[in-house]
Amino acid sequence: MFQDVLQQLIPSKEDILHIQSCADKIVSKLKVKDAKVVVGGSFAKDTWLKGKKEVDLFVAFDYKKYADKSEVISNLLKKALEKNFKFETLHGSRDYYRVLIGDVTFEIVPILEIKKAEQAKNITDVSPLHTKWVKKHKKQNEIRLAKAFAYAHHVYGAETHVKGFSGYALEVLVIYYGSFLSFFRNAAKWKGKTVLDPGRLLKNPLMELNASKTQSPLVVVDPVDKTRNVTAVLSGENYKRFIFVCKKLLKKPSAKLFEVEKEKIPKGALIVQVSMKGKTDAVGGKLSSLFSKVKRHLILEGFAVKNSRFVFEEKALFWFTFKEKVLPATIVVKGPPVS
Ligand code: CTP
Ligand code: MG
Repeated sequence: MFQDVLQQLIPSKEDILHIQSCADKIVSKLKVKDAKVVVGGSFAKDTWLKGKKEVDLFVAFDYKKYADKSEVISNLLKKALEKNFKFETLHGSRDYYRVLIGDVTFEIVPILEIKKAEQAKNITDVSPLHTKWVKKHKKQNEIRLAKAFAYAHHVYGAETHVKGFSGYALEVLVIYYGSFLSFFRNAAKWKGKTVLDPGRLLKNPLMELNASKTQSPLVVVDPVDKTRNVTAVLSGENYKRFIFVCKKLLKKPSAKLFEVEKEKIPKGALIVQVSMKGKTDAVGGKLSSLFSKVKRHLILEGFAVKNSRFVFEEKALFWFTFKEKVLPATIVVKGPPVS
């Protein structure tokens, strides 16, 4: 049954050649002293979904030379790009750059070339080790199904406005459970907080990981970097939503469940429509924190929020459902404490 779904997700030979030829154009023109240009991300892992035209390129600087001054590598890359390319600068933990070649977007990220995760000065340095780990396990098509399913239910992406599963998180989970179906079967049974350590790197992940990284409902120790939780940004709502849709799929398997789910707003919900100029990650990030703020204030005012969601599609909106839409006329305030 999922064979038909899968056929829609696998890029064709032409798709691959087209992207490869665009990538070659950059690689041949981008010369950076003391650095290698390598294709990374899901294109290198062969886990990208047909139709996706975004490629991650990494410019890996010599470790010995730059480990002590890694703050300069963004600028060195920028200087090299200025010679031959039109690009946009993006701000992350290190500045990186976006170049458009034909209809393909390349994100060009400066990193240090490392052999072990411990050497990393920045989380992006570890990415080529992720690529190596994922490629070795050869679960590409299983991963594609998991990505498409997560995408269909709006839980794919680690950006602040999504707070879902990153591509890498889905890769690790599929590989850990062995197949996409086994992943969904197990996810349907997740309850409360779930802690997984696919690489068996820690005795007690909750004790050994930094507390800031274990706040998420799902903790997955990165199999190539034992200091990291791959699903640290997953929100409680998306965790529950994913469990719910996995149960639904197992109960009644259907290709329909791989089609993008239309946002269903519960009857009686309070809807706040937000006007926005341009739909970018930066706008999404800001609106997402505004959404959390509004929700926090509603709760502080005494509303019992039952369910809520930030929708960031062609329109941006917040919706909330409450136990009671009208607050009681009086409330009991306990205190003050004896001390
Ligand atoms: N990465 C990471 N943590 C993130 C985002 C990215 O470690 N929160 C690293 C991963 O190694 C990832 C790479 O950066 O493989 C590229 O990121 P991204 O494009 O988000 O993921 P892909 O693996 O390329 O998957 P896709 O683009 O298909 O979603
Ligand atoms: Mg990518």
